[in-house]
Amino acid sequence: MILIKNGRVIDPKTRLDEVTDIVIENDKIVTIGKQDENAEYEQVIDASGCIVAPGLIDVHVHFRDPGFTYKEDIQTGSLAAAAGGFTTVVCMANTKPVIDNVDTLRELLERAKTLPIKMLQASAVSKGLKGEELVDFQAMKDAGAIGFTDDGIPMMNVSKLKQAMELAKECNMPISLHEEDPSFIDAPGVNKGEISAKLGYGGASHLAEDVMVARDVMIALETGASVDIQHISSGYSVDLVRFARERGADVVAEASPHHFSLNEEAVLKHGTLARMNPPLRTEWDRQKIIEGLKDDTITIIATDHAPHSAEEKAKSLGQAPSGIIGLETSLALGVTNLVKAGHLTMMQLLEKMTFNPAKLYHLEQGSIEAGKPADLVIFNADEQFTVDKFYSKSSNSPFVGENLYGKIKYTICDGKVVFEN
Ligand code: DOR
Repeated sequence: MILIKNGRVIDPKTRLDEVTDIVIENDKIVTIGKQDENAEYEQVIDASGCIVAPGLIDVHVHFRDPGFTYKEDIQTGSLAAAAGGFTTVVCMANTKPVIDNVDTLRELLERAKTLPIKMLQASAVSKGLKGEELVDFQAMKDAGAIGFTDDGIPMMNVSKLKQAMELAKECNMPISLHEEDPSFIDAPGVNKGEISAKLGYGGASHLAEDVMVARDVMIALETGASVDIQHISSGYSVDLVRFARERGADVVAEASPHHFSLNEEAVLKHGTLARMNPPLRTEWDRQKIIEGLKDDTITIIATDHAPHSAEEKAKSLGQAPSGIIGLETSLALGVTNLVKAGHLTMMQLLEKMTFNPAKLYHLEQGSIEAGKPADLVIFNADEQFTVDKFYSKSSNSPFVGENLYGKIKYTICDGKVVFEN
C-alpha cells in the first residue's frame, strides 16, 4: 500500500478540493481521507504544499510509431508523457503505415501493453488519410481503436465526412477533425496577416479553419455525432463552436497550450519552432480562445505533441515541418498562463486536462474515487522551473528557457510511480 499524505487533493469530477490523504492498494485508489500515520505502508509520499490531481489525459499526441521513430517512439513518448504528469494519451493515426487497418493497429497496441502509461490509439477515418475510402469503423473499434481521426489532414469530401460521422456515432465513438481548408492556405504553419506579410511568407488564413468549423458543426448538429474540433486557433471558430453547443450539438473543442500561450509574433522570435498547423494567430484570437476556455465553450486542453528532429526544424520556414512537442510543458503553461494569470481556477484547468477528456472517450480514469485506477499527478503549482531538457526524443519547443510555474513531483499510473522529480 502507498500513502500519499497532506496533499491538496483536487478532483474535478466530485469537486473535491481538500487537504487530505489518499491510500493506494495495488493498482487502485482505496481510501480518500485522513489516515493513521503509524500504520504500515510500503511507501509514504509527503505531498505537503502540493496538489494531488487525477493523472492528466491528453487526447492528441503523435508518438510517430511506426514509421517516424527517429522523431519519437512509443517508449520515449511515454516517458515524456509521464514527465508531464500524463497517465493516459491518445495517439494520432498519421504514422507510416497509417493506422487504417486492423493488423497495424493490433501490432501497435500489443507493443503498447508494456508502457509505463496508458497509450490509447485512434484509427484513421480514411484509408491512407486520403479522405476518400473510409476505414472499416466497426473492425477498427473491435481491434481496440478508441476514436477516429485523419488529424494532420482536413476531410474535404463533405459527403464522406457526413457518412464518417454517422459511422462513428453507430460505434459510440468520437470523430476528431483537423480543420484547415487548403483553398485558404498560401503557405502553411504561419498565420496570414501582419507577420506573414513582414516575412514575405504566404501564410494560412483563419478562414481556412472558420469555413470548415462552420460546415462541420452543422453536420454534427444534423447527425448527432460526437465531434471533437482539434487544436482550435481562430476566434471566429470559437464563436462557431459556442453557437453549435448552444443548439445542442455534441461538439467539443481542444485548445493547445501554444494557442493559449502565444500569438503569431512568436514566429519572429522562434522561427520554425513557432510553425504549426493550424498556426499561432493574432492576440485577438488568443484572447478569444481564453474566453472560450473560461466560459466552457472549449472544454479540453490537448497538446498536439508533434515531435520533429533538429535537422528538420533547422530548415527554412517554408521547408520545415509543422508542429512542436507539448507533453512536458502543458500543465505548467496552463498553471502559468491560465491559473496564475487569473483566467481559470485550478479546478477548471484540471477539469480540462482530466475529467473532460475522459468523458469524450468514455474512460474510467480521470477522477479520484475509491475503486478507480490509481492514476495521479502530484505537482507544486507555486514552484518555478526552467524548461531546459526533455524526455522526448525531440526538443522542438519554443518554450525552452522559459520559467514556468507548476513543477511535477510524481506521476503515478496504476499504482506505480512512473515519474519522480
Ligand atoms: O503542426 C502540426 N503537426 N499539426 C498537426 O495537426 C500535425 C502535426 C504533425 O503530425 O506533425
